[in-house]
Amino acid sequence: MSVSGKIALVTGAAQGIGRNIALALANDGANVAICDVNLDAAQTTAVDIETTGRKSLALKANVASSADVTAMIDTVVEKFGKIDILVNNAGITRDGLILRMKDDDWDLVLSINLKGAFLCTRASLKYMTKQRSGTIINIASIVGAMGNAGQANYVASKAGLIGLTKTTAREYANRGITANAVAPGFIDTAMTKALPENIRQDLAKQIPLGKLGTPEDVANAVRFLASPWASYITGQVIHVNGGMYM
Ligand code: NAI
Repeated sequence: MSVSGKIALVTGAAQGIGRNIALALANDGANVAICDVNLDAAQTTAVDIETTGRKSLALKANVASSADVTAMIDTVVEKFGKIDILVNNAGITRDGLILRMKDDDWDLVLSINLKGAFLCTRASLKYMTKQRSGTIINIASIVGAMGNAGQANYVASKAGLIGLTKTTAREYANRGITANAVAPGFIDTAMTKALPENIRQDLAKQIPLGKLGTPEDVANAVRFLASPWASYITGQVIHVNGGMYM
């Protein structure tokens, strides 16, 4: 198994893409800690991880809180002894056109999607730099590369995440740490189920492969980046979008 014996932490893993990433890494041999603001659902993911024979730990943490993040990473290292793989997946949307966008909606999206990833990266690097190994995978988005009307806050957070990925890769390559991003296109989860059906159908028409992606499609790119097969890849963005953006 490609990540056998590794310790992973996946943020926002109560449902959707994060849950699928956590299960995929467990199937590939990692023990997987997860966090979410929704502890009940996170605990269900943790139980499902343990049915693969791996160890898990569900933690309630808001990734936008520095105190929560520090306590979370320290707890993971206390319980498992190290942290090898960090997947910054937690993310939200608060859509609106720029002229109507509220300050609070800008701040909330940036604080969870971008600052949250920074806080988790910084807290994990404290241990990864001592280990002189580790890999960080940030879940960005197709719109971070393309832009998208009605999502200025979300797009800025995802474009920022790509910049954070490249900077992490450059700063810590000499400590044996890699950092990459996966940029999903439109994936069939609660986030896109919130869109009206006619918009979902219009989106599918813009995708050369003709359909929205699945959380498993995204998880498969993450399990590759987390594995030794990707050890010479750093600072890259892997697009998983059915050809919607090339
Ligand atoms: P989702 O809404 O189904 O799941 C997100 C999870 O993050 C939820 O369990 C939620 O409770 C958790 N979360 C939210 N705020 C949090 C916080 N402050 N601290 C900790 N956990 C928090 O979303 P989905 O679709 O699974 O998205 C996962 C990631 O993939 C997000 O970063 C999203 O931006 C990204 N993405 C999703 C796409 C899609 O089409 N669904 C496309 C491109 C990127």
